Amino acid sequence: MYTHKNHVITHIVKPVISGLIAVSFLLPLTGMAQTHTNDALYQALGKEAGISRIVDDLLTLSLKDDRIKDTFKDTDMRRLALLLKEQFCVLSHGPCTYTGDEMKIVHENLGIRSAQFNALAEDLQIVMENLHIPSHIQNQLIAKLAPMKKDIVFPKKADPAP
Ligand code: HEM
Repeated sequence: MYTHKNHVITHIVKPVISGLIAVSFLLPLTGMAQTHTNDALYQALGKEAGISRIVDDLLTLSLKDDRIKDTFKDTDMRRLALLLKEQFCVLSHGPCTYTGDEMKIVHENLGIRSAQFNALAEDLQIVMENLHIPSHIQNQLIAKLAPMKKDIVFPKKADPAP
């Protein structure tokens, strides 16, 4: 028997319910799609191999740069390279995990000056330019690193009282 109640269930309630079911399946998919498209910078840097090359070239250039080379005299450069690669990968939303220590803890007693921070950023730009990375991509990576300056450069400790 056709009743108004049946009509409401068949034509209004059922489509709404199947719509909700479809949405609940699709939402996680759109979430996945977002994390996937979000890695544009990682892709543009050349993924794992590209980032690896950038970091290797950056450390080679840093060790030739009189403004900063002495800072690395006691550093395990292999460990630094590995951790910088992980970090650049994470910063560009690649599929990596950073396993090193916190930036503040690592750098706070190294006495790095603002000019040295800028020197490293400049070397990074030179390296990316040499690898033909487009300047808007270079700028995106530099922009991710710039806010880290506060955890790397610290005000000079005051001289001890006489
Ligand atoms: C945004 C810029 C920077 C980033 C992302 C960065 C990143 C890192 C990372 C990931 C490590 C390894 C952490 C660990 O050992 O667990 C590290 C260590 C180190 N960084 Fe930086 N760094 C930056 C700027 C600088 C600058 C400007 C200098 C000096 C000019 C510098 C000198 C060092 C040194 C000497 C170490 C090794 C410390 C040690 O041997 O224990 N860093 N940095």
